[in-house]
Amino acid sequence: MTTAVPEPGAKDAATTHAAAGPDTDVIAIAPDPEVAAGILTEAPLEDIFDEGVVGRAQDLIARYPQSRSALLPMLHLVQSVQGYVSQEGIAFCAKQLELSDAEVSAVATFYTMYKRKPCGEHLVSVCTNTLCAAMGGDAIYKKLQTHLGSDGEPLGHNETAGTPNEPGSITLEHAECLAACDLAPVIQVNYEFFDNQTEEKAVALVDALQAGKKPAPTRGAPLTNFKGAELQLAGFFPEDERQYRTDIDGPSQAVETLRGAKLAQDRGWVAPVAQDVPLPEVEKK
Ligand code: FES
Repeated sequence: MTTAVPEPGAKDAATTHAAAGPDTDVIAIAPDPEVAAGILTEAPLEDIFDEGVVGRAQDLIARYPQSRSALLPMLHLVQSVQGYVSQEGIAFCAKQLELSDAEVSAVATFYTMYKRKPCGEHLVSVCTNTLCAAMGGDAIYKKLQTHLGSDGEPLGHNETAGTPNEPGSITLEHAECLAACDLAPVIQVNYEFFDNQTEEKAVALVDALQAGKKPAPTRGAPLTNFKGAELQLAGFFPEDERQYRTDIDGPSQAVETLRGAKLAQDRGWVAPVAQDVPLPEVEKK
């Protein structure tokens, strides 16, 4: 997509907003009425973040020697309530942690896991980093863009098919390496892994999600939804945490993970030990 680039020099916020692509976060700079509709609300913080949420926020703060260290999990807590980090969410974190809105905003806009637009019931992340891309990740992402798009328009990065927060809605994103290259190409749904994907498998997966099903991930925890995953990322688990962990803990390595080590073992390959390698001379200062 080609977007107009504003002329250098003084320019008003509306121009900046109009020139920004959909990936650009400038809502805080220029709240365009249409963009802001449904995103910025006039509701008091207490109406959005009730006593239960405040209690969890206090619980998080108590886990750290300095309250500001609780910011990252607290942003996940905010997302577990609203499905994204809204301006109200930023204000809530700032108030709880005695930080400025700008300090919270700087962190929330730095990490891609913090969403600045309302997310779908499910977040589908397709790895398009080098190995996954070569193994079919790019083709899977394109296929899902078309499959989830509407009126002949493919769905864009961080855009949602359906109404955000409503059942069956899906936010699609392309992701950098998800640390599962041995099982490429991979997709995550709410950060749970679906390994060794194909275009067909990926389409079947999103169809099932849109139909209200919760397909079992290849490994890890059973599928929940984006808000549920965010609550866990904030550090809050089901009451019977021991049982929960027993249910999700599984082998952290697959046959593919150990392939190189097995080949080396079978062929008697060994790496040189460190003391066999002469250290380079270092010039004295
Ligand atoms: S490149 Fe996709 S998981 Fe590493």
